[in-house]
Amino acid sequence: MTHDPYSAHSARYETMEFRRSGRSGLRLPAVSLGLWHNFGDGHALETQREIVRAAFDMGITHLDLANNYGPPPGSAEENFGRLLASDLRPYRDELVISTKAGYYMWPGPYGEWGSRKYLLSSLDQSLSRMGLEYVDIFYHHRPDEDTPIEESMMALDQAVRSGKALYAGISNYGPDATREAIAILRDLGTPLLIHQFKYSMYERTPDQGLLDALDEGGVGSIVFSPLAQGMLTDRYLRGVPEGSRITHSQFLREEQITETYLERTRALNEIAVGRGQSLAQLAIQWVLRRGRVTSALVGASSAAQLRANVEALAFPALTDEEIDAIEEYAVHGTHNG
Ligand SMILES: NC(=O)c1ccc[n+]([C@@H]2O[C@H](COP(=O)([O-])OP(=O)(O)OC[C@H]3O[C@@H](n4cnc5c(N)ncnc54)[C@H](OP(=O)(O)O)[C@@H]3O)[C@@H](O)[C@H]2O)c1
Repeated sequence: MTHDPYSAHSARYETMEFRRSGRSGLRLPAVSLGLWHNFGDGHALETQREIVRAAFDMGITHLDLANNYGPPPGSAEENFGRLLASDLRPYRDELVISTKAGYYMWPGPYGEWGSRKYLLSSLDQSLSRMGLEYVDIFYHHRPDEDTPIEESMMALDQAVRSGKALYAGISNYGPDATREAIAILRDLGTPLLIHQFKYSMYERTPDQGLLDALDEGGVGSIVFSPLAQGMLTDRYLRGVPEGSRITHSQFLREEQITETYLERTRALNEIAVGRGQSLAQLAIQWVLRRGRVTSALVGASSAAQLRANVEALAFPALTDEEIDAIEEYAVHGTHNG
């Protein structure tokens, strides 16, 4: 299919906020785009192109991938490689592209988890799928209790030393393993740039020690599913729309739309409406509140969703009273005030 040649919007850096990732030299946009869903082979490449163009035009310089994103696994990297070749290649030095390895990719003992064998082979495969010489951030996607953490961290260090990645990241590690990873990578001379973890008004585990470990170590934080995959938007308040993630993803189920969920989410939606914004925008502002998180890593099935979400950054910061009210609704489901 033919498409117009792409020329990036000249005002792309005028409104986006950039935040330093921990104590590194790298600044990331406050909103980053993830290609977990909506970039596999089942989604039209033209829609993918619109989303990626919209992202870069708004100053979203950071695009997040993983070896297994699709479906089928690998296809998101291949499709992104096509978009890079046709649209973004002239802007490579303005982009921070990340990928990861940790989940199942190929049969046999070397196709998942955290061995040096798997991580470095997978990085080579990712580079070839995307047509890149290097990625900016290479992550270990999940902790592996059967592989010494030193081995996984040495593989990240090797990825950086070989020039195939510029920075090292970890994802889904708990606070203790994170502290270990920080210390090992510091000793190796490749300081941990960033940790990627799930965090939202509905997912508070990182408040129990992980964010503290990152602050202490001077490590950045990028949070995935800040919209709880769409459950922290108004998407499911009036039923399950055709084409929504619930209808096509194994990671989000209709059973999750319970009465308790609806009650809490309607209450949060009212707070958002009271501020003149959407619930999605409130959810993004919430994870970015008080500057503790470097970037909110969102997904989008359309350019319009992404544009609306980035507009969150233009609203006044949440007040302490609003944060307290959100606490009552999101965690306890009632509001005493
Ligand atoms: N490290 C890890 O283990 C890990 C795990 C998960 C994700 N991630 C990363 O995090 C990224 C984001 O995760 P996510 O996609 O779950 O994030 P999310 O932002 O919580 O959810 C995105 C989904 O929410 C819906 N949505 C977005 N904006 C909306 C709006 N304005 N109004 C209504 N609905 C809206 C869309 O669903 P519809 O499709 O229904 O329109 C969209 O696909 C991933 O792409 C990936 O890069 C990493």
